[in-house]
Parts: sequence; structure tokens; C-alpha cells
Amino acid sequence: MATRAQPRRWSGGRQGGVSIDVDRARAVAGRLLGGDRWAHVRGVARRAAELAATVPENDRGLLVCAAWLHDVGYAEPLRDSGFHPLDGARRLERDGWPPRLVGLVAHHSGASLVAAVLGLDDELARYPREDGPVADALTHTDQTTGPTGRRVSVPDRLAEVLERHGPGSPNALAHPVRAPRLLAVADRVERRLARLATAGVTGPEHW
Ligand SMILES: [Fe+2]
Repeated sequence: MATRAQPRRWSGGRQGGVSIDVDRARAVAGRLLGGDRWAHVRGVARRAAELAATVPENDRGLLVCAAWLHDVGYAEPLRDSGFHPLDGARRLERDGWPPRLVGLVAHHSGASLVAAVLGLDDELARYPREDGPVADALTHTDQTTGPTGRRVSVPDRLAEVLERHGPGSPNALAHPVRAPRLLAVADRVERRLARLATAGVTGPEHW
């Protein structure tokens, strides 16, 4: 039987000589975010723990940290460009978080495609963008967690974002390119989960 995943499971280890501290990430996000946004982020961190088996063991703490921190750019004190992946990345970089974590936050959930609509793509491109299981898992956690932390499907999440931001919004303008990319991410993560299930890995108790 699968065990409920716990986002605090990993101490996080080190990335590029800088320590990855899951407890610190959760505390930072909890200080900056409230209401539904905090409920969403807690749901994303839980989901990240569920998907952690899809990434290399050494990257699981990084994934959960990035899940806690991915939306801090929405916090009013961090507001600068008004584009939350960029504002979050700027603050995390200033606070000394590892470049890889900063890059994951900067580019989560197809942010570069929305940044292009906003004319912020050069700014965002300052941060390293990685492709692979960790970036996929972070995006998929966000895309399968609704605005109040409930588990949702990727198509429902995309529809909710379109409705919330409205027609003509940067999200709506990026949607024709962004939606297929997010669905491709979902497909890759689901295939990794299926391979793990075939191998008998069904939950955190097996990791
Ligand atoms: Fe999010």
C-alpha cells in the first residue's frame, strides 16, 4: 500500500557547494505566502514528494525545495517585474540559493513562453534552464495542483489558468505553444511513474 508522501523527508544535501535545506525552503515560503497561495504551495510540495521517485535520488531534496519556493515571486515584498517566476528567481539568487534551484524556479511550468509574450525572455534567460526529470517533475507538480492545493488534471489546470487570467492575458497568448509543452511534460512523468510501478516502486516506502 502506498504511504502518504511527506515533503519533509529529505534534508536536501548540497548543490554546487551550497546546502539545500528543505526546512528553510518551507519556512521561507510560509513567511512570504498566505491564503490560497500557501495552500497551493503546500499541495505542490506534497505532490513533489509523491513524484520524487522519478528523479535521481540526489536530486529529491532539490525537487522538494523548488516545490516549496516555486511561487514565492507572487509575494508582494518580492514584486518587481510582476512576473512571479522572474521575481522569485531574483530574490532566491540574492539570498544565495544554489543556481540550479534558482533556475528551476525561474523556468517552472513553461515560464519562458509567457516571458516571451511579456518581453522578459532575456531577463529570464539569465537563469540556467535545465531539461530533464527534475524540471519535468517540478512542472508536473504545479500543473496537477489546483489553486487551493487540490489535485487536478493537467487539462483542468490549464483551463482554470486561462479562465483566471482571462483572454488576451500573457498566459492566454502563450497557451497555444505552452499547453502542448505541459502535456508533453505530463506524458514523460507519467511514463516514468509507470516504469517505477512496473518495477514494484509504488510509494515513498520503497525509496
Ligand atoms: Fe504554482
